[in-house]
Amino acid sequence: MELREAIGRRRSIRFINPYKPVEPEKIQVMFEAARIASHWGNVQSLRGIAIFRDTASKEQLDALQGIILGWQIKIAPCVIVWYLDTNAVDGQSDRLMKLAEVGALGVGTKEVREDGVKNTLLPIFTGMGEVLKTPGISEVDCGQGIAQATLAAYEQGLGTCCLGAGPGGTALMESLGVPEGSRLLLLQTVGYPLEHWEAGGQRPRLPFDELFHMNSYGESFPRSEEVVEELTRDGMFTRPAPLPERDEELQFLRDALGLKEPAVL
Ligand SMILES: Cc1cc2nc3c(=O)[nH]c(=O)nc-3n(C[C@H](O)[C@H](O)[C@H](O)COP(=O)(O)O)c2cc1C
Repeated sequence: MELREAIGRRRSIRFINPYKPVEPEKIQVMFEAARIASHWGNVQSLRGIAIFRDTASKEQLDALQGIILGWQIKIAPCVIVWYLDTNAVDGQSDRLMKLAEVGALGVGTKEVREDGVKNTLLPIFTGMGEVLKTPGISEVDCGQGIAQATLAAYEQGLGTCCLGAGPGGTALMESLGVPEGSRLLLLQTVGYPLEHWEAGGQRPRLPFDELFHMNSYGESFPRSEEVVEELTRDGMFTRPAPLPERDEELQFLRDALGLKEPAVL
């Protein structure tokens, strides 16, 4: 599948088949995609723990149930707990040097590149100290990794939905035994979709010209209709929500899964 089509079809899938387990190999593909995403300074602070409903311990499953946001968590064959390990910042110097070593950072010979990183870049970062562990740019890195994993899931026929952790997050992290200094990012349910991939259609978004600018704020980025038509042809833009059949689909899914209305949490 072409990338544009995959982006267009990638949608939060809340309704997944509770009876069809997810193969660990497919989760591996998601993790592989996350691992090679870009990270500032090559820090690599994104971590994931995949909890499989069929094989996890009762304690692990109970900890997941403590998360109140998202009924999907109760039916998902697999839930990925994505978190950020701030301790990764401590190894940043080594990993920056690796970038110079392999020719991904700086110009000139290997020695010149390494000197540049050592004498110019590293003092800036070490001067910032613990600030680099505070919420901010590392979360952006992690988002890139999770986005790649999400596309990789879709490409394998899986549906996912991100869920904020809510108040049960701290207890979950403790029960998983993650290192101190870790921050829970979100939970992602993974399973085989029970709903059609359109999932009710392209969800409403803010107007393009409110979001993106050229040269300065207030100068809306020009939106070419030709580009919009091209992306529609390529499948990146699909039928907009609401789709005429969605109400019926939702009732079908509610009955199939035995959900209580309104089932928003
Ligand atoms: C970081 C993040 C957190 C989210 N948290 C929740 C959540 O707690 N509960 C939920 O039902 N959906 C959650 N979602 C899913 C969004 O509500 C969803 O992306 C939105 O409905 C748009 O749908 P789409 O992803 O198909 O475009 C989250 C999505 C992201 C990216």
